[in-house]
Amino acid sequence: MDNYNIAIDGPAGAGKSTIAKRVAKKLEYIYVDTGAMYRAMALFMLRQEIFAEDEGKISKACNQAEITIEYIDGEQQVILNGENVTGQIRTEEVGKMASAVAKCNAVRTKMVQLQKNLAATSNVIMDGRDIGTVVLPDADLKVYLTASSKERALRRWKELENKGISSDRSEIEADIVKRDFQDMNRENSPLRQAEDAVLVDSSNLTIDEVVDKIILLFKEKCSGELG
Ligand code: CDP
Repeated sequence: MDNYNIAIDGPAGAGKSTIAKRVAKKLEYIYVDTGAMYRAMALFMLRQEIFAEDEGKISKACNQAEITIEYIDGEQQVILNGENVTGQIRTEEVGKMASAVAKCNAVRTKMVQLQKNLAATSNVIMDGRDIGTVVLPDADLKVYLTASSKERALRRWKELENKGISSDRSEIEADIVKRDFQDMNRENSPLRQAEDAVLVDSSNLTIDEVVDKIILLFKEKCSGELG
């Protein structure tokens, strides 16, 4: 029997990971956070003191970074050269560096292969920037999840506040806009809505509303096949 795959793409802070995690739980699928893999690669480069602009060094160094994922109590863990770095990749610094390393062809080729292998062996819901366009072009459902940059910045700001980190909302929005521009305008696998993806704008929807919408879309697409 073939596996079922759901692809969720969209810009930074659209809520992809929160929503994909909940959908995965409801459907009992595996959630694959591909951004975490690029973030682990970014952490590796930062530790090597490689600059974001130095594409040549990034291309070469990425061969020394072995990135894999594991699950502990259903939560994805990212392993970088044998070290669990899951707790170290959620900073703004790593996020910015991830967007820079993600431009590199050698990095993408490595990550995409790993992601395709995961989807070939399990029912997955995967989120990222190129899932519907490159990683899972035959996904059973593709969603392009977005929200206004103002709303996305507000969500990021709240997330940081909840962690006790104070930050400037307009600076966060500026960073988000810059990162989106970089992701949408790069040569390799730019972020764009796949032709057959359903656009969901979450600006005025709650998390539960988006989750229910995606599950409904999935059931509609696969009606007759699902038990
Ligand atoms: O959580 P957030 O949306 O801020 O970012 P993320 O999903 O953790 O991804 C971090 C960066 O990795 C993005 O800005 C992209 O540049 C890159 N990325 C990518 O190029 N392709 C993916 N499939 C996932 C992430």
